[in-house]
Amino acid sequence: MNQKVTVVGAGNVGATAAQRLAEKELCDVVLIDIVEGIPQGKSLDLAEAAPIEKHDAHLTGSNTYEASANSNIVIITAGIPRKPGMSRDDLLATNRGIIKTVTRQVANYSPNAVLIIVSNPLDAMCHVAMEESGFPKQRVIGMAGVLDSARFRAFIAEELNVSVENIQALVLGGHGDSMVPLPRFSTVSGIPITELLSPERIEALATRTRNGGAEIVGLLKTGSAYYAPASAAVEMAESILKDKKKILPCAAYLEGEYGVSGLFVGVPIKLGKNGIEQIICLSLTDHEKQALVKSAAAVQELVNAMKKIS
Ligand code: NAI
Ligand code: 2OP
Repeated sequence: MNQKVTVVGAGNVGATAAQRLAEKELCDVVLIDIVEGIPQGKSLDLAEAAPIEKHDAHLTGSNTYEASANSNIVIITAGIPRKPGMSRDDLLATNRGIIKTVTRQVANYSPNAVLIIVSNPLDAMCHVAMEESGFPKQRVIGMAGVLDSARFRAFIAEELNVSVENIQALVLGGHGDSMVPLPRFSTVSGIPITELLSPERIEALATRTRNGGAEIVGLLKTGSAYYAPASAAVEMAESILKDKKKILPCAAYLEGEYGVSGLFVGVPIKLGKNGIEQIICLSLTDHEKQALVKSAAAVQELVNAMKKIS
């Protein structure tokens, strides 16, 4: 294939993302992990499925970064996942160290790549990746809004007993408990859900969305969600690789948009071959604005907490 995506972290999210990238035949895939044998074994296993799945994507596994050189995109999923009872924020110190080390290597071997950050706490890890890589803000993007919106879409479809394909939804803000589902911008075949559901049912679905990550952690008990997160990261990668210019909610570095400065927060962006091509500024109601400001404040708190860790 003529494009290459490196996935760092060959765990649940990383390996599933590698599988989806290969099976959609989007690119060659390099899978990197710190644990010896894991990325090699998983990429070999995926390569052996290729004749059945009918794709010619080339898969390589490695514990070092040489094979990742000149990747178009690097998806960073390295880190530790959330365990039951653990908040995303508990992951801060450990994953910060991991993201620093990984980003240094990635930036060295693929100076022109677009970085898609997945590791939690998501918005804070985007800051670490941008600082460590020195990449422009257009090329450091966090995956959260696509996942959170997909959860909202799935819950709306289930509630209304309609096809998920008819549902569009928008969840903005940080990837935490204060994320901001926006019913006004969530539709069924163009019909705002505010026309179809009572405020109480909408609030119930929004609350389930905010707790979507914790709901899965509570069920799995040994880790966090990975099928939907991998799908979300791959949708972003596809829009970049094919220069599709999809409008997707992603964590982007804001400099004044939505009244937020110097912070990664989830907002609608246009994603093309150069990464973020546009930040879409919606006009929000006072209530929506307040919710977004509150969510941005939670991200700011994490960033401040990170600055205190030596
Ligand atoms: P996992 O534990 O299955 O995989 C993580 C992998 O990272 C492991 O294989 C581990 O060996 C590897 N790793 C650790 N340190 C490394 C290093 N220095 N270099 C290379 N690889 C390293 O975890 P999972 O479920 O894949 O989740 C990965 C991360 O993504 C977690 O931080 C999790 O919280 C986050 N996540 C974020 C989501 C989002 O919406 N942004 C959704 C789902 C997960
Ligand atoms: C999720 O939302 C763990 O952040 C991850 O599933």
